[in-house]
Order: sequence, then C-alpha cells, then structure tokens
Amino acid sequence: MTDSLTKLAFQTVQQGKNYFAIAHKMVSGQIREWIAPRVEQQTQSLSPQALQKFQKRVDEILERDWQDAEAGVYSTDLLFEGATDTFWWDYPLLCWELPQVWEKANRRSYREFSSQIDTRGYPNYYLQNFHYQIDGYLSDRSAELYDLQVEILFNGLGDTMRRRILAPLKQKTASLAAHLETPRDLRILDVACGTGRTLKGLRSTFPEASLFGVDLSPTYLRKANQLLCAQPGELPQLLQGNAEALPYRDAFFHAVTCVFLFHELPSPVRQNVLNEMFRVLQPGGVVAICDSIQVEDDPDLKPALENFQTLFHEPYYRDYIQDDLPAKLQKAGFTSVSTYSYFMSKYWVAHKKATTMA
Ligand SMILES: C[S@@+](CC[C@H](N)C(=O)[O-])C[C@H]1O[C@@H](n2cnc3c(N)ncnc32)[C@H](O)[C@@H]1O
Repeated sequence: MTDSLTKLAFQTVQQGKNYFAIAHKMVSGQIREWIAPRVEQQTQSLSPQALQKFQKRVDEILERDWQDAEAGVYSTDLLFEGATDTFWWDYPLLCWELPQVWEKANRRSYREFSSQIDTRGYPNYYLQNFHYQIDGYLSDRSAELYDLQVEILFNGLGDTMRRRILAPLKQKTASLAAHLETPRDLRILDVACGTGRTLKGLRSTFPEASLFGVDLSPTYLRKANQLLCAQPGELPQLLQGNAEALPYRDAFFHAVTCVFLFHELPSPVRQNVLNEMFRVLQPGGVVAICDSIQVEDDPDLKPALENFQTLFHEPYYRDYIQDDLPAKLQKAGFTSVSTYSYFMSKYWVAHKKATTMA
C-alpha cells in the first residue's frame, strides 16, 4: 500500500472508532435516562469554541501519530490496532454491566468489592471503584473490559495518546543507547503499566531493549502478560508492586514512563511516586509521563474536565487538574522539565542530571 493509501486507511479507521464511541455514549446515555436517571449534578455543555478546539486537537494528534509512525518511531501496524482482540465478547459484556455501574453511581457507592477479592495490603486510596468500575482494578473482568472502556471514553484515541511519549523518549535515550554494549542493555520501566498498552508501544519503538512493567493489580498484570506474550521480541518483565516503593534497585533504568496514573493518586502520593522514579533512574536518565490535560492548558476545555469528575468517580482529579507537577518533579530532583499537550492529554519529560550521584 502506498503511504497516502495507508494514511487514508488510518484516518478512516479512526473516524469509524470515533463514530462508534459517540454512538455508544449517546445511546447508553439515553437508555440510562430511562432506567436509572442520574442523581448527580448535571454536566456542562461545551461552547461552540470549545467544540472547535476539541476537533482541532483530534486532528493534531492523529497527524502527529501518523508522522511518528511514518518517521519510523514505531510500526504503522500499531495505528490499525483495536483496543481488544475480543471486541465481540467484551462489548456485550461491557453493555451488560452498564446498569450495575449506573446503579452504583446513583448510590455513590465507590468502595465495593466482590467477596472473593482479597483487598488486604493495598493502599486505602487504591481501594476504590474508579469510574465506578466494578471491583476497581482488582478483578479479571475489570481487566478484560478496561481497554475497551478507555477507547470509548477517548473516542478511539487511547493508544494514540499513550504513543505521544515514544518519539521524545526515543530521541532522549539515543545518546544513552549509543554508549551501551548491546541494545538489550537499555532498560525501560513502565510504572502502573496496567494492561500493557504502553509496553506494547515501547516494544515497537525499542525492539531489543529490556522492558519492565510494574502495577499494583495482579489481574491487570495478567492481562498485560497475555497481550505482551503475543508480541515478537523478549517478554517484558512484569512485577506486582507499589509505585511508591518501586521493587528495583537504585539507578537501574535508563528511562521510566508512566501513563494515566497521576490523576488517580492523592497529591502527596504523586510526590512519593516521582521520588521513586528519580531513585530508580540512572544519572542521565529520562522520565516521560502522560496524563489528563489540566485547567491551565485550555480554559475553554475546563467544562469537559469538570464533566469528567462529575460523571466518573475520580476522587483526586479535581486536585490533579490544578497540580504543579513541574514543581513536584523538581522537588524529586529532576531537571530540564518540558511539557506539551495533545488532545485531552498532557506530557511531562524530565531528566536526572548526568552528574547526580545515585
Ligand atoms: C488508569 S490505569 C492506567 C493503566 C495504564 N498505564 C494505561 O495506560 O492504561 C491506572 C493504573 O495504575 C495502577 N495503580 C494505581 N495506583 C498504583 C500504585 N500506587 N502503584 C502501582 N500501580 C498503581 C492501577 O492498578 C491501574 O492499572
């Protein structure tokens, strides 16, 4: 296929995902009004100006994704991936669960776990049904449905947002990689790796690097393992652990990534996690973080951010969207913090000074 045909195919697939997600949200919203009308605050509508900006951001991120693939940062195959190989099983299950989710939301019940789930040993802030997800992050069913839920939430752009850390990471690790004996000596850790979507992108960008993933959820790690087993190249090493006490020795990694974690952490925990990332990075190493945009990024989109915290159980989001993460990164010891934003996500890239002692 020529490049322009591939690009057209990519845009068509994305348009299809976008229409599907919008149709799902409209139809399920209507059904909810009939069977479990919302008891929470009403959402705010976006101004025509905000909607225009929203569309502009969609166009920008898709163009960037295409350009990065075309430039060889990662394979164009990634652009055509669905959120799940088992869509025809997952989608009916997701729809089946919706009435339970709405009922929980109306009861404002967000700390419920099935009786067979052992919740001992997890931090209190973690034991929640974020987004009213049944069993929080602790059941196989939650892990099975998560990727599809994210894709629907972000109109098919979940992986597209995750991939925006890859080009800067490749560029910033190039000089470190040049001094290594083999490409396998480059070590990259994905913190809160969830179901492994970021690790999959990392594998495409760094086919021979040693990849590591850590997450608190055993069921999400199991799902990540299934996804990553099917990829060519060495299997990333997955560990269950808390990002506040990373189970790795000091100065072990050349790069650390983290996607969609910080908005789900209380402010002091965000600092603890950044401190840990700094500890496990080698001097000269780089951290790349992706999470939701914040209020300062575009005041016109503030209603969209406020709708998110109204519609979903996200107890730390209000604080997160105002948080000064560059200050926290600097407090942890990082330097040269740069930020950028695509669609509904924001990115922070920072360094551990080459001269800093581990
Ligand atoms: C919103 S999901 C993001 C997952 C993944 N990075 C992605 O891009 O989809 C948040 C993830 O953070 C994990 N998590 C939350 N708090 C954590 C902590 N203190 N330590 C390790 N993982 C944590 C959860 O288990 C979940 O997999």
